[in-house]
Amino acid sequence: MQIWIDTADVNAIKRVAELGVVNGATTNPSLCAKQSNKDFKAMVKEICGLVNGPVSAEVVVPDFEGMCSQAEMLSKLHENVIVKVPCTNEGLKAAKYCKEHGIKTNVTLTFSPNQVLLAAKAGATYTNIFIGRVDDAGHDGMAAVEESLQILKNYKLETKLIAASVRSVQHAQQAALLGCHVATIPPEIIEKMVKHPLTELGLKKFKADWEKSGCKME
Ligand code: E4P
Repeated sequence: MQIWIDTADVNAIKRVAELGVVNGATTNPSLCAKQSNKDFKAMVKEICGLVNGPVSAEVVVPDFEGMCSQAEMLSKLHENVIVKVPCTNEGLKAAKYCKEHGIKTNVTLTFSPNQVLLAAKAGATYTNIFIGRVDDAGHDGMAAVEESLQILKNYKLETKLIAASVRSVQHAQQAALLGCHVATIPPEIIEKMVKHPLTELGLKKFKADWEKSGCKME
């Protein structure tokens, strides 16, 4: 499973990318709005320089023509840019246009297996299940991931599924167990995935035993 860091915070991306576990990055308008840098193109280019893989950048207009024109502009910023378009009638048409014009897309704001199926049929390179937001709405986000993966498999569709809106280490682990292609995970959750109380405990014991023994490593 690829891990994409789910933030536009370049300091967090730098910190976590150093671990060598990050395959890409996801931004969205809300994540970008939290940053002090208001130059979106510069932000996307900087992130592309920090992660060696796909970087999702979202269009911010509702109409087909506008989305296609923003998709063309964004895709020219860096070869790793994946253009995010929403799962609307206009967004699906834009995904089809992008596919026909060699632009990779991430059909976003997708919450159901039916939306995943339609995104795949429209030619999306990637699409999502927003697990946390589906759970918040009182449904089962992880079941939607499982069903979406089954649908993509049933019809040998090439679109890759992203587990998005990941809110916990359990979400990340369950998505990996289900064989999700990508999980887009906030930096603080990637950092939590590194940790285990028995690792901390084991390290303390190794240190104490080593120091007591008089062993040397010179
Ligand atoms: C994915 O494309 C989004 O950036 C992200 O996963 C949304 O997560 P949230 O529901 O925590 O905002």
